[in-house]
Amino acid sequence: MNEPFFLVSCSPRRGGNSDFAVRELQKALPAPCRVCRLTESGVRPCVSCAFCDAHPGKCSLDGAGDGAAAMFQTMFRSRLSILVSPVYFYHIPAQAKALVDRAQRFWACGEKPGRGRALAAVLIGARPRGEKLFEGAERTLRYMALTLGMEWQEPLCLYGLDGPDALASSSESRERIHAYARRLGGMVL
Ligand SMILES: Cc1cc2nc3c(=O)[nH]c(=O)nc-3n(C[C@H](O)[C@H](O)[C@H](O)COP(=O)(O)O)c2cc1C
Repeated sequence: MNEPFFLVSCSPRRGGNSDFAVRELQKALPAPCRVCRLTESGVRPCVSCAFCDAHPGKCSLDGAGDGAAAMFQTMFRSRLSILVSPVYFYHIPAQAKALVDRAQRFWACGEKPGRGRALAAVLIGARPRGEKLFEGAERTLRYMALTLGMEWQEPLCLYGLDGPDALASSSESRERIHAYARRLGGMVL
């Protein structure tokens, strides 16, 4: 079955705020969602081998045990994909950056296989404030959307969430997630 929504938890911490946010998005979105935990999808990092320069849209790391191609294919089948990620040193965690870098195959050949699909993000940081806290993550994800041909949506940025239960304890953040899901869901369906 092709679910219209694809939700990706990008945190290596199991059962933390990103996993919780994915469940809240799932509750509020108006149609079935495919859900995955990125860190368990085996996405290996780009090794700059230049294979994709000579083989349009292909990557030398694809194959058994690597999850990048399957992740991209699910993103291209879904109307809307939402990446849910903590901020690590003002950016996304290494496992999520590995997925972004594996989009190099599309940059190299200029194909836009995500055309007509949307990409959004929920970004979570521990700091209570800071206007640049989400800037690095936002810029990188936006540029991946551009490379894939996907329509980038403004991310939902949540401050002040640190311990694994912080989001579960914040009714205000949960409500913002529900409102974000309702808005995006209504936009793409
Ligand atoms: C390696 C590492 C780096 C982090 N860097 C930042 C940071 O730069 N700014 C920030 O606000 N929080 C930072 N945090 C805190 C996480 O963003 C925060 O705890 C978040 O709620 C974790 O989400 P999770 O429960 O989904 O893993 C960092 C956490 C770790 C483990």
